[in-house]
Formats: sequence, C-alpha cells, structure tokens
Amino acid sequence: MPDAERPPARLGVLVSGGGTNLAALLSAIDADPDFGGEVVVVGSDRPDAGGLQRAEEAGISTVVERLADHDDRRAWEDALIAALTAHRPEVVVLAGFMRLLTGEFLSRWPDRVINTHPSLLPAFRGANAVRDALEYGVKLTGSTVHLVDEEVDHGPVIAQRGVAVADDDTEETLHERIKAVEHELLPECVKLLSQGRLVVDGRHVRVREAL
Ligand code: GAR
Repeated sequence: MPDAERPPARLGVLVSGGGTNLAALLSAIDADPDFGGEVVVVGSDRPDAGGLQRAEEAGISTVVERLADHDDRRAWEDALIAALTAHRPEVVVLAGFMRLLTGEFLSRWPDRVINTHPSLLPAFRGANAVRDALEYGVKLTGSTVHLVDEEVDHGPVIAQRGVAVADDDTEETLHERIKAVEHELLPECVKLLSQGRLVVDGRHVRVREAL
C-alpha cells in the first residue's frame, strides 16, 4: 500500500514528567496531515505527571500504573502492558518516561518502542544525563532518539543532534536548550517510524524514501 494510503499508526506515549515532548509531538501531528500517526493513549507511572494533564486537555485517553500499587516490578509492568494494549497502540513512544522496561514489554512492540534521551549516546546514559555532561565538562552534548532494547539508553540510534555547552550553563539552562532540539527530533523520528520508513539492521537504522 502506498504510504499515503496507510491508516495512521496508533501511538501510545509514556511520560513521567512535564510532558513537553508529548506536547511537541501532538503539535507536530496536528500541523502535518501526512504525519501518519495519532496518539491513542498516554500512560504514566506517576499520577501527577504534567504530561497526563496535557493528554486530557487534548482529549486523549490516559492510563496510570504506579509501581507502589503492585507487588513487584513484574506485576507493575504486566499491568502497564495490559492498560496500554487495551488501546491497541502499534508504536510506543517514551517521552521522558523514567522507568526501565524489560524484554517482556519490548517483545510486544518489537523495534516499535522509541525513546528520547538528553545526551549524545553512548555518552551519559541514565537518569541524570544533563548533569553528568555538565560535570564532565564536555563542550558538546545534545539529543538522541533511539529504538529501545533491553539495556539502558542503548538501542539502535535513529537520529542525533548536538547542542553546544556554554560556560555559564546550569543543568536547567542546558536542559532547556536540549529539550528545544528534542521537540523537533522526536516528532521527526516518530513520523518515520509511524510511516514504516525505518529499516533496522542490527545496530544500524536506515531511513527509506517515502513511496
Ligand atoms: C526529556 O529531556 C527526556 O529526554 C528526558 O526527560 C525529559 C522529559 O521532559 N528523558 C530521560 O532523561 C530518559 N533517560 P518532558 O517531560 O518535558 O518531555
């Protein structure tokens, strides 16, 4: 089927924080009739995540599964999978989701879970990437969007963009400039994934031309 005739891919988005990346994705979808995806559910591990409120304002279904409400991580992840699959997402976007997901989760969406991380991977993996880059003293950091595998911030890279570090940067000012880049890069990559245009070969991701 030519790309333009495919039904939009059903996207699930997971957030733990303010949800500015979710907002950027929703704006990009609204602004682009050829985007090829629609957000059908937003999920979180935190009932107070700002991203949930953004989703509700946009009329999108939300699901919340708190780790503390389950016996263990396995039970929590099973509940999250069940809550998401009720909305039949074909792609899962991690947009500031701060929990690790296991192979059990990933096997439901093979090569269809995408993450945005605020550093140039493989540098500064983990939850404090911006602070770690500042402390290390790098002059260039940035944004990486990648497919998710079972290791933390490790899966095949789809796209990266650099952000220069200023001498007077704080974690907040640097993160703001990285987020501004993420707000463009994540929607671009989600669009390619939604359109089925990412070809994954081991660690290498190629973009094929639109049909
Ligand atoms: C983003 O900068 C994202 O890259 C980061 O959390 C922020 C969420 O912002 N994710 C990670 O650090 C994951 N390791 P947002 O809630 O405003 O979109």
